[in-house]
Amino acid sequence: MEKIPAHIAIIMDGNGRWAKAQGKERYEGHIEGVASVKACIKAARKHGVRYLTLYAFSTENWGRPQAEVEALMQLFCKSVTKETPELIEQGVQVRFIGRRDRFSEEVRERLLHIESSTAEGDKLTLVLAFDYSSRDELVRAIRKVAERVQNGELKAEEIDDAVISAHLDTADMPDPDLVIRTSGECRLSNFMLWQASYAEMYFPQTMWPDFREEAFAKALEVYAERDRRYGLL
Ligand code: IPE
Ligand code: IPE
Ligand code: MG
Repeated sequence: MEKIPAHIAIIMDGNGRWAKAQGKERYEGHIEGVASVKACIKAARKHGVRYLTLYAFSTENWGRPQAEVEALMQLFCKSVTKETPELIEQGVQVRFIGRRDRFSEEVRERLLHIESSTAEGDKLTLVLAFDYSSRDELVRAIRKVAERVQNGELKAEEIDDAVISAHLDTADMPDPDLVIRTSGECRLSNFMLWQASYAEMYFPQTMWPDFREEAFAKALEVYAERDRRYGLL
């Protein structure tokens, strides 16, 4: 297999439906989903993928019942903290994209600590999108650009593709080559609208808790057969 995507971004969907199909509570699907996260990190490293982005919680997900929001928040904090030593050992650098202002001070500090303690990792960059949405990211980026114009640091006519990209949470990361959404839904749900401009899309039926090493390898096979043309002939 020659064509390995440098950056894979995954919309991890179907935890609730997976749980329901097993006669379990929704949160049990989220817990089972953590094992898929670990399997995909391992598989990404093994296959030489450089960036793996995981969409874990959208800005819209705050509208779910409070108990589920809290369960997701706790699971996220607990899992990243618990896995950090192993991630360091595996050479995985962790970065968070999305808003931070709605986290508690304690969580904010913990996230910063995880980013700094994994900063030396050079095998794989794991990008976790939590309280993320693409429109929110774009609004924040445009505000930053507008401020620079207002300060006289930048002229309006100097704003181009690169300037916008540099003000996104994903600044200095390559765009995703492959976007995967599990569970059979064929939509982006406010994920990387700018960055996925030329990404290949793959929508397997597999629910996220069942998306393990084999499913990841299958996605790589599907990608290798795609012909990316970027508008050219
Ligand atoms: C994905 O699974 C996890 C999050 C969106 C946080 P869902 O919770 O959306 O599961 P379904 O789509 O309802 O099955
Ligand atoms: C998208 O899944 C968000 C994440 C996977 C974190 P949702 O389940 O929230 O999206 P919709 O509601 O089906 O569009
Ligand atoms: Mg869903």
